[in-house]
Amino acid sequence: MSYVRLVNVTKRFGDVIAVNNLNYEIGKGECFSMLGPSGCGKTTTLRMVAGFEDLSDGEVWVGDRLLSSPAKNHYTPPENRNFGMVFQAFAVWPHLSVYENVAFPLRIRKLDEKEIDQRTMDALRATNLVSAKDGSPDFLSGGGKQRVALARALAINPDVMLLDEPLSSLDPHLREEMRFEIKDLQMKYGFSIIYVTHDQSEAMALSDRILVMKLGVVQQIDTPLNIYNHPANKFVFSFIGLSNFLSAKNENGRAKVVNHNGQLPASFVVPEHLAGETDVSFASRPSEIDFTTMEDPEGLHGVITRKAFLGEIVDYQMQVGDQFLRVQKGRRDPGPEPGESCAVKFLRPFWYAENE
Ligand SMILES: Nc1ncnc2c1ncn2[C@@H]1O[C@H](COP(=O)(O)OP(=O)(O)O)[C@@H](O)[C@H]1O
Ligand SMILES: [Mg+2]
Repeated sequence: MSYVRLVNVTKRFGDVIAVNNLNYEIGKGECFSMLGPSGCGKTTTLRMVAGFEDLSDGEVWVGDRLLSSPAKNHYTPPENRNFGMVFQAFAVWPHLSVYENVAFPLRIRKLDEKEIDQRTMDALRATNLVSAKDGSPDFLSGGGKQRVALARALAINPDVMLLDEPLSSLDPHLREEMRFEIKDLQMKYGFSIIYVTHDQSEAMALSDRILVMKLGVVQQIDTPLNIYNHPANKFVFSFIGLSNFLSAKNENGRAKVVNHNGQLPASFVVPEHLAGETDVSFASRPSEIDFTTMEDPEGLHGVITRKAFLGEIVDYQMQVGDQFLRVQKGRRDPGPEPGESCAVKFLRPFWYAENE
């Protein structure tokens, strides 16, 4: 059942269309991410859902409550939406104690002292901040400050948690840890999440479904697995996970890698839907390529130009004509050395028009 619903939501800033006819629905308790490069309209969308930004067109609903609709001249202010918000910047007040930072939205709502204390302490316990409650948040690390912001959003017992790149100011190790903390809090409190990020691995780790956005326009909405396995287009393929693209010419249905004179695998057949395209792009993921023998008819030939140990995996750069491929194998797999000729086989290639 849909809980939060965006219907034809559009936002224009002068000539810029920041968000273009956006539609999606989120279930109760779902973790939904909006993923896309900087400037694609994620923050603007979140601010419209929160009520900090007017819509140019469209409607925002929660359950059967209309929150925003310029056409119907309807607007519910943020404080009546019961949404928790956490931003990228640590929006905590250094002159207030950690406790008072968390209690602040409850005081604004004029709850009685007993309830304020109960909810504040609950939120502090859930975020492991009880021992820090009397000090200033200034004494906390970045992760600690962001926990204060989370606790403050939790204290109002939100129906929906709106998170705008909440972990991007933290170091990578802490970022990973905090993902799981957010997920645990969601399990405990049951709120829905709209999570905005430009970090695909973060979106993959947290989300039930991901929306991929480019220049204000939705590219795909699906589960992390489906987005990874069945990307809707070249942009989604390149934005999720690591990607390789080899430029090729379509010669009567057989693809010929540009500037590559060696043996071409028999399996380089251009799919039917690209029959009309002369310039095609052969896409693969570094983890979905295997080394094979030079005699394998399915192998594409090249030379290893770089080999880097990344701990658990080994990252190869392979030159194919004047183009390069990245190949990643486990560190226990034997692999060629720099300067060696080699052949690779593609486990699950994708094809796109070169200028899609
Ligand atoms: N207040 C504003 N005035 C004018 N343009 C804006 C404003 N806010 C955002 N934009 C523009 O809208 C587009 C989307 O911005 P934003 O929603 O912040 O993207 P993201 O969060 O995905 O990085 C960008 O082109 C940005 O420059
Ligand atoms: Mg943003």
